[in-house]
Amino acid sequence: MSNRIQIFDTTLRDGEQVPGCQLNREEKVEVAKELEKLGVDIIEAGFPISSPGDFASVKAICDAVSEPTVCALSRAKKEDIDAAAEALKTAKRPRIHTGIGSSDVHIIHKFNSTREKIIEQAIWAVDYAKSFVEDVEFFAEDAGRADLEFLAKLTHAVIKAGATVVNLPDTTGYLLPHQMHQRISYLYEHVDNIHQATISMHNHNDLGLATANTIAGIQAGARQVEVTINGIGERAGNTSLEEIAMILNVHKDLGFSTGIHPQYLYPTSCLVSNLMGMPVQANKAIVGANAFAHSSGIHQDGFLKHAQNYEIMNPEDVGVPSSAILLTSRSGRAALRHRLSLLGYEFEKPDLDKLYTRFLIMADEKKMIHDADLKELVG
Ligand code: KIV
Ligand code: ZN
Repeated sequence: MSNRIQIFDTTLRDGEQVPGCQLNREEKVEVAKELEKLGVDIIEAGFPISSPGDFASVKAICDAVSEPTVCALSRAKKEDIDAAAEALKTAKRPRIHTGIGSSDVHIIHKFNSTREKIIEQAIWAVDYAKSFVEDVEFFAEDAGRADLEFLAKLTHAVIKAGATVVNLPDTTGYLLPHQMHQRISYLYEHVDNIHQATISMHNHNDLGLATANTIAGIQAGARQVEVTINGIGERAGNTSLEEIAMILNVHKDLGFSTGIHPQYLYPTSCLVSNLMGMPVQANKAIVGANAFAHSSGIHQDGFLKHAQNYEIMNPEDVGVPSSAILLTSRSGRAALRHRLSLLGYEFEKPDLDKLYTRFLIMADEKKMIHDADLKELVG
């Protein structure tokens, strides 16, 4: 099995479902081009049956990008698959993503159906989608809570029908990482045609475990991950692209690779956040404002002696211009001296001590000390 992980970006589909994050066609095309530059393998461009605007956006993205596969979502319904196929007509590498619920709770309370009928409909949907495109991905919605024996039967059936990728979403973000690992391993042991398809992870973050579950899935055999920029998506969001890309990059010992060019992670994060009007939380891994900012005296002193004391990645590697030393009342003399020297002031120890005492009083009052405050202090 190859150790190259396919990055399937669903920022423009699952991410864009977030209330208030809708983008117009031009904005979606701009994001799609940025995703292509970033090196994603598949762009899930939208859900064409959902609105004329989304249909037009998927079409426009097919014309705007050339490298990545362009994927369109559909339910396991004729009209959805027809719309997806039509929207993808000009794509160089089109993929239809179709599927249906797989947990008993979805089968009974959403579809008012039975396991047998769900398998029949799944086979029909894959077969019908295959009449338009070669590359068909099947999603078994809520696979995280599905009966495992049934999930194995469903996986076998859709692969036999021609699915090239089987997506096993933890739609409700329910699983723990070791459970995800056990489930994917079980499928590898019990589905005899599983090696004819790629297994995909699509994990939601309801318990903050989306990234951990995705890594567990990769370790058990999944070779595609469905992710979004900044981890945006339904409810608590999806697995974040930047986290997966950098986990696999930092932990080369795991032996997996992606096609992501990490230097575009931060610019892409900023673009998506700005266009969607969705701020990134300051402590967000990789792309948050504080991801490379050091504020306590102990950390600042250690960082200034040797950056690797407190950083496991270089900010420049992910496109962040530089690390930051923030001056607050938790900062120490080392950080104060460092910032003063950047401003052209050098102080010997007794003077620095005096200045530091006044700095702490000012910092307690102002919370954050900026260069203008330091100049005032020195003045
Ligand atoms: O979370 C989910 O199950 C989905 C599917 C439509 C793939 O988004
Ligand atoms: Zn989802």
